[in-house]
Amino acid sequence: MRILGIETSCDETGIAIYDDANGLLSHTLYSQVKLHADYGGVVPELASRDHVRKIVPLVQQALADAGLTKDDIDGVAYTAGPGLVGALLVGACAGRALAFAWGKPAIAVNHMEGHLLAPMLEDNPPQFPFIALLVSGGHTQLVQVDGIGQYQLLGESIDDAAGEAFDKTAKLMGLDYPGGPLLSKLAEQGEVGKYKFPRPMCDRPGLDFSFSGLKTFAANTIAAEGTEALADIARAFEDAVVDTLAIKCRRAMDQTGINRLVVAGGVSANRHLRAELAALMVKRKGEVFYPRPEFCTDNGAMIAFAGMQRLLAGENASLAVTTTPRWPLSQLTVPGAN
Ligand SMILES: Nc1ncnc2c1ncn2[C@@H]1O[C@H](COP(=O)(O)OP(=O)(O)OP(=O)(O)O)[C@@H](O)[C@H]1O
Ligand SMILES: [Mg+2]
Repeated sequence: MRILGIETSCDETGIAIYDDANGLLSHTLYSQVKLHADYGGVVPELASRDHVRKIVPLVQQALADAGLTKDDIDGVAYTAGPGLVGALLVGACAGRALAFAWGKPAIAVNHMEGHLLAPMLEDNPPQFPFIALLVSGGHTQLVQVDGIGQYQLLGESIDDAAGEAFDKTAKLMGLDYPGGPLLSKLAEQGEVGKYKFPRPMCDRPGLDFSFSGLKTFAANTIAAEGTEALADIARAFEDAVVDTLAIKCRRAMDQTGINRLVVAGGVSANRHLRAELAALMVKRKGEVFYPRPEFCTDNGAMIAFAGMQRLLAGENASLAVTTTPRWPLSQLTVPGAN
């Protein structure tokens, strides 16, 4: 079976074709990052309009790259939430309409389930159960994953997501949007331990996160120390985020007795985070899994993969196009259950 996956939840148009027997056949991505850079963040209306322009040519390209035609496609998966409602609507309308026109089932995919399952596109996929750390621009969550569709939220950010904290702190430092990767690069030139940032919410039990205080801490440190200290401040900020994430991962694994960790979402591309979690898992004699870097951020491949799990179970979305801008993972069910 082959499925076309469509991702338009935010500022990336991602299209992919996944085959349950042969894996990923093609994937294309158009990032709108330049379009939004002047505004310092995603402008929802511009995002929606750009998805409208890009979606059909990218579907055609994905089919051509895979050497397929529409007749070779057995279903269409699209991101139905969470995300920006206008952006979601573009992909959902296009996906639902293509499935209808082609006489094939349509699958409404949860974007975070896509991120969570992205490491399963790799050669050595994780076995269930595992603990997932989802760290993206909009989410910081620890989830116990017992199987596809069986997600138990263990903890999440009560304010800014980790990626959001990176981006906002980078903005304070005068770095371009999106600043997360640039801040991380700057941190490489910084001296370890020059400044000490707090590890928020680590001094009490629980698996929730809070990152907005770190941004304020960074702002105050920049004001006190001046811009020549930026690299050292970036280093201290990144160390604090990475340490905090690692402490909570360790806690989640201790609490559940599960020694297998999956890390996904844009911040999982962070090299420092990967190194610290790798060291943690060596110490624990456990395993850690990541998507390949290009599938850490938004992409169509993860949506095609998640959609395939539900296509195989016979799911088919109603003809009424619905999107769910807020759609917690805990509301999902095992494929085919409803
Ligand atoms: N190397 C890095 N270090 C730190 N942060 C990074 C790095 N690379 C990417 N990011 C951050 O990842 C985020 C983008 O990730 P992603 O595309 O998964 O998020 P999103 O799709 O916007 O959010 P969500 O999936 O929650 O809706 C941005 O905040 C970006 O700064
Ligand atoms: Mg995302």
